[in-house]
Amino acid sequence: MGITKICCIGAGYVGGPTMAVIAQKCPHIQVTVVDLNTERIAAWNDADLSNIPIYEPGLDSIVGEARGRNLFFSTDVDKAIEEAQIIFISVNTPTKTYGKGKGMAADLKYIELCARQIARVAKDNKIVVEKSTLPVRTAEAIKSILDNTGNGVQFQILSNPEFLAEGTAVQDLLNPDRILIGGDATFEGQKAIQSLVDVYSNWVDTDKILTTNVWSSELSKLTANAFLAQRISSINAMSALCEKTGADVNEVAKAIGMDSRIGSKFLKASVGFGGSCFQKDILNLVYIAKSYGLNEVADYWEQVIIMNDHQKRRFSNKIVQTLYNTVSDKKIAFLGWAFKKDTNDTRESAAIYVADDLINEHANIAVYDPKVSSEKILNDLNYLETRSSVANASSITSFLNPYEACKNAHAIAILTEWDEFQTYDWQKIYNAMQKPAFIFDGRNLLNGAALREIGFVYQNIGS
Ligand code: UDX
Ligand code: ADP
Repeated sequence: MGITKICCIGAGYVGGPTMAVIAQKCPHIQVTVVDLNTERIAAWNDADLSNIPIYEPGLDSIVGEARGRNLFFSTDVDKAIEEAQIIFISVNTPTKTYGKGKGMAADLKYIELCARQIARVAKDNKIVVEKSTLPVRTAEAIKSILDNTGNGVQFQILSNPEFLAEGTAVQDLLNPDRILIGGDATFEGQKAIQSLVDVYSNWVDTDKILTTNVWSSELSKLTANAFLAQRISSINAMSALCEKTGADVNEVAKAIGMDSRIGSKFLKASVGFGGSCFQKDILNLVYIAKSYGLNEVADYWEQVIIMNDHQKRRFSNKIVQTLYNTVSDKKIAFLGWAFKKDTNDTRESAAIYVADDLINEHANIAVYDPKVSSEKILNDLNYLETRSSVANASSITSFLNPYEACKNAHAIAILTEWDEFQTYDWQKIYNAMQKPAFIFDGRNLLNGAALREIGFVYQNIGS
């Protein structure tokens, strides 16, 4: 089938950038991204490209090039579904906060709503593509809804997980390590796979496009994220041991990373991984393993999360202990709130949990993040439901200027590895702080020797 119209349901961190790149690379295909959230769609359509809702380096110029030409953002979900030959589902699949599987299983209600809407609206054959990360065998559930509630038209379900990392989304999309497409072995299934291969092959070498059955594709996404997160938890476990023994985790990471069997990536010790994927996907994997009675498999992967929680707690404990066992009424400046640099996404950011711990110890937190709004910061804390929103608001303040955030602080904690933190006038910051002036570098970002020279008490992760 020659594809001329694509629709994507969900204009978030996955759907937005992915469709922008498809539109840029396939000018002959009309790409419409739809969302229920009218504010989000309005922001995607904002004439000022600096106001698009997702901050990703390079994304604004791609949107600028394709928007209005063959890339459209709309709230008219029905119309986009009806017109498209391929429908991508890129809606959120958060961890369930209620009922069976609470805190572990993926909440598939948004996916199910999409499937029902597609079934209701579609009047001709459609290829439905799962883009959101989903538990294995979700495609089967989508198919069952489509086949049983549809208008008698044929649906082919493909799994096409997105491997982009936030902060490098555009580069990852333009130059992916691989594209994975899972589909049925039937003639119709293979035809659908080929239609999607043809879209990607407009800019991706065909030898990088892998096709598998649906379940391998679904499970590969969970497996990739579990392996990546496991590397971080492994190096973070070693960081704790390094701090006790006098070894330096950066040196250890370099030494093991040069072993080509291990490789150098994802070995950066940190305050703990965050983001919308790792924790959610591993919990999902744990839940699936348990549901098949594979308790040892579940425990094995759950340990990656347990280690990550420990690393965040270890960081906040270290701050309290070093500040003479009390942070009560002390100002602690946080540089960074996003879960990594070059994104305005804060989901599961370590900063949220470290702040929560320190507020429990009656600290006053002052946050500066170059891309995260004060509303988001407060919402993130409120979402934990540790205390009232009024109590949160009186314990945390956001600043638009890093020097103001650090003024009179007892300590600075680096929570995100934003490049700009390295370029600050640290002497100026030191001069305006309480003494002794402490820095806790949760990202091993700053030059410790230079900061100690100024007079800071500098502590990092893993040395
Ligand atoms: C991840 C996967 O990388 C991506 O393929 C998948 O599609 C979605 O999940 P993302 O969460 O956007 O992407 O970012 P990633 O770069 O993987 O970082 C996740 C977290 O791990 C961040 O908090 C990051 O700071 C942390 N991290 C990463 C480390 O602490 N150390 C490292 O060495 C690498
Ligand atoms: P991700 O990181 O997976 O892209 P986001 O939360 O950033 O997740 O984006 C998911 C988007 O999907 C949200 O903007 C949400 O409003 C949208 N969404 C959820 N359910 C539906 C639906 N039934 N129809 C249209 N949009 C939806």
